[in-house]
Amino acid sequence: MKYRCVRCGRSVYALNGFTCGCGGTLEVVHEFPETSLEVFESRLSLLEGPFRSGVWRYKELIHPRIGADCIVTRPEGNTNLYRRGGVSMYTGVERLQLKHEGENPTGSFKDRGMTVAVSEAVRSGASVVACASTGNTSASMAAYAAQAGLKAVVFIPEGEITYGKLAQALAYGAHVIQVKGSFDDAMRIVKESSMELGFYVLNSLNPWRVEGQKSIVFEILQQRGWEPPDWIAVPAGNLGNTAAFGKALRELKQLGLIEKTPRIASIQAEGANPFYRLWRGKLNHLEAVKPETVASAIKIGNPVSWVKALNTIRETDGVVECVSDAEIMDAKAVVDASGVGCEPASAASVAGAKKLREAAVIGQDEEVVCVLTGHLLKDPDTTVRYHTGAMEDLRPSFANPPKVVDADLRSIEEALG
Ligand code: F0G
Repeated sequence: MKYRCVRCGRSVYALNGFTCGCGGTLEVVHEFPETSLEVFESRLSLLEGPFRSGVWRYKELIHPRIGADCIVTRPEGNTNLYRRGGVSMYTGVERLQLKHEGENPTGSFKDRGMTVAVSEAVRSGASVVACASTGNTSASMAAYAAQAGLKAVVFIPEGEITYGKLAQALAYGAHVIQVKGSFDDAMRIVKESSMELGFYVLNSLNPWRVEGQKSIVFEILQQRGWEPPDWIAVPAGNLGNTAAFGKALRELKQLGLIEKTPRIASIQAEGANPFYRLWRGKLNHLEAVKPETVASAIKIGNPVSWVKALNTIRETDGVVECVSDAEIMDAKAVVDASGVGCEPASAASVAGAKKLREAAVIGQDEEVVCVLTGHLLKDPDTTVRYHTGAMEDLRPSFANPPKVVDADLRSIEEALG
């Protein structure tokens, strides 16, 4: 296996500590076998085997050399693209599609990276896998580790992850360690544990996670007949997806499989926006922030993949935007009321598309795919708090509070107006 450090450019041949000696993050360097779009089309009708996965369908572009005996798959991917009039109207983007990654087996996009990184862990003979998480990575890792028979250790910021996600990690049998601190503290501990205890890291610091997440872009393009949209908007926390999307597009272009590249819009929460500050301020180095947002999945102040993500924004003529908690929750309410539904962090992409359309960064006739990263039921508490007006400092625009009535039909008629 060959890896390249995105900071110093050096080639690296083993994932010791998962970073380069200089501290930079690594990316996989492929020698691609011959392939074509027809190969990916031909696999769409398969009913069994790894190629029916919406990740492994693109094996030649993700992990060409791994043997079928190492692949740990549910399968994942094959998530839907939706058009919803209400969301188009709300954002002002008429030609808008929602790519719902919450439809993956454990309810988030993480399964795409996890199937690849866990398979690579099996291939390389790892026995203990570990991650830091705001919840979804731990849920996904716990499920795939259980399937592969690996011991799983998750580090989560104490009291900061939703019960939906915590329940998954516990139920799938992971060792759950609650760290007294933030996600960024948990991430530091995972890095140290990998060096000192030999844990195999399954955060997007592991370049194989990024390889799997490239398939979100591949699948969006395939579902659109390989016709790229003008924009892809994606919520941004630790920046693994933003990194993956740029690599996917760069490689597709290199291979001559696409000509036009969509622009990537990477959307952070206003209270957890170090990447936005870096890009806006034209800084050379990311300055960590103390994160604060209702979207707990992206409550991250010191994202790991910022160098790769910055390459994505530069190469795709992309933008970085940030949106307030109120904008996130109102966008979520609109996505939810369209019947599609998502968790709070996911709606950052839709809130970002609205903001960028209002600022005319996204043009009137441009087509936008917004990635929804997680399922509505990942965080029911926040949804209920929004609709019952129980969120401090946040006035909901689309609240749908439940009504309490006497147990007779007359009162029910009255309540329903
Ligand atoms: N949306 C959701 C629902 C997430 O869970 C995450 C990240 C993101 C967006 C941000 O994606 O890190 O690729 O920029 N969740 C991680 C976790 C950090 O631990 O589950 P990113």
